[in-house]
Amino acid sequence: MLQLQAIDLKEVKTETMVIPVCEDKEIYGSRIISSLVKKAKELKDFKGEKDDEISFYHPSEVKADRIIFLGLGKEEKINYEVMRKISGKAVKKCIKKKLSEVLFAVPSAKNINMDMYLLLEAMMEGAYLGNHLFDKYKTDKKSKPLKNLNFLAGPEAAVKFSGLPSQVASICEGTILAREWVSTPSNDKKPDQFAESIITSAEKEKINVSLLGEKELEEENFGAILSVSRGSQCKPKLVILEYRPDAAKKTIVLVGKGVTFDSGGINLKPAGSLEDMKMDMSGAAAVAATIITAARLKLEINLIGALPIVENMPSGDASRPGDIIKSYSGKTVEIGNTDAEGRLILIDAISYMIKKYKPQTLIDIATLTGACVVALGEKIAGVFSFDDQLAQTIIQAGEKTYERCWRLPLPDDYKELLKSDFADLKNVSSSRWGGAITASLFLSEFVNDTTWAHIDIAGPAYIKKENEYCGVGGTGFGVRLFCDILKRL
Ligand code: BES
Ligand code: ZN
Ligand code: ZN
Repeated sequence: MLQLQAIDLKEVKTETMVIPVCEDKEIYGSRIISSLVKKAKELKDFKGEKDDEISFYHPSEVKADRIIFLGLGKEEKINYEVMRKISGKAVKKCIKKKLSEVLFAVPSAKNINMDMYLLLEAMMEGAYLGNHLFDKYKTDKKSKPLKNLNFLAGPEAAVKFSGLPSQVASICEGTILAREWVSTPSNDKKPDQFAESIITSAEKEKINVSLLGEKELEEENFGAILSVSRGSQCKPKLVILEYRPDAAKKTIVLVGKGVTFDSGGINLKPAGSLEDMKMDMSGAAAVAATIITAARLKLEINLIGALPIVENMPSGDASRPGDIIKSYSGKTVEIGNTDAEGRLILIDAISYMIKKYKPQTLIDIATLTGACVVALGEKIAGVFSFDDQLAQTIIQAGEKTYERCWRLPLPDDYKELLKSDFADLKNVSSSRWGGAITASLFLSEFVNDTTWAHIDIAGPAYIKKENEYCGVGGTGFGVRLFCDILKRL
């Protein structure tokens, strides 16, 4: 449970107190905490430098079994992400020590040039997300998440921000939902299972769900989606989630790539590129979790999600390089490479959503290209849009949530790289270079005049080494980002 409480150190009783310490400035408003920090800094081995750590046991000043002091480094280096990380790190330390609760001392925001609301939000996020463990598949569950995450603020802040814990918890629960979907192995999230799991979660909220199965997709000519799933034993699905609160004025459509496993198809990926391809549905996970979260938070915006869900496998019946398919839009596409499957399922979903819902704005999110990871590395998503304002909104939201996004261009003259000798378009570029851009340009052929943005999360959707507030596996990238974007739109 996440809780914000008014500081009263005489009354407080806790198993573990955590005090983040600034190296070169006194940052607490409470005299007792300041004196504890002073005592810690008198020790030779603790200065408050980044990654410094020291513990006091049974201190006389407060009724805590232990106090863990964690160094933040110099004041000029402290920002909201540093605070998110320090709380995540503290929670992970407590989990390792098999503790069950933590009480954070929260610095006085003005002492570090911050806004109290944003500071509390960042610290709570780091703690909540750092407390998530994906251990469903471990028989011997060695660690347990903490039961209580408590935050100490001044009496005024505690009243003023009393609604914050539940809001942070909702957004983090959404992120964790996406993480769990992504980390689930492909043998347990075949398209029907993944679709069913999304539907079960969505139906608990005020979300209207519809499901198009293979029959409906065939009847309505979703040729691109069908071409990708041909090689798999699993039938394709298109899940539509509609959240329509009464007060809403705007309609936003989100589309998420849902490839439950990307083997590459006939253009089979080599060993080394296959092992993590359970994560190729991260876009769909982010969209579904965002809409569920928006419903829980009662955001006043119409949100409609489209999740094309398929498995990309080779077989005697799989699509071949050179095949030509007819997409939902009517445009024909030559399949140059069966591993460029994401853009195929996306174009059918995008065309359908634009035709059916005529949204003001459409944003798609996908683990689309290895080229985007080459360009921006594993931690930063690529953003593509013809609309400067929408691109800016996404990038600013990313700065706020630290789900970093960087805009890449959509040059008109690169479109010729997608020409096919036989069909209207080819699904791969004739050039080796700029693959994230040409993939986006391919999508752009299907958005007509809708205000559109594409977010390529091939890098940040998944991590192989844990960080301060995320374990190995799905990161849930996109959920906090979208929740913030929606507030800005
Ligand atoms: N799912 C992959 C992209 C990907 C790569 C995601 C690495 C996460 C990590 C996508 O379907 C793909 O295979 N793209 C190809 C496109 C190419 C064939 C034009 C790629 O990036 O190599
Ligand atoms: Zn692929
Ligand atoms: Zn893929």
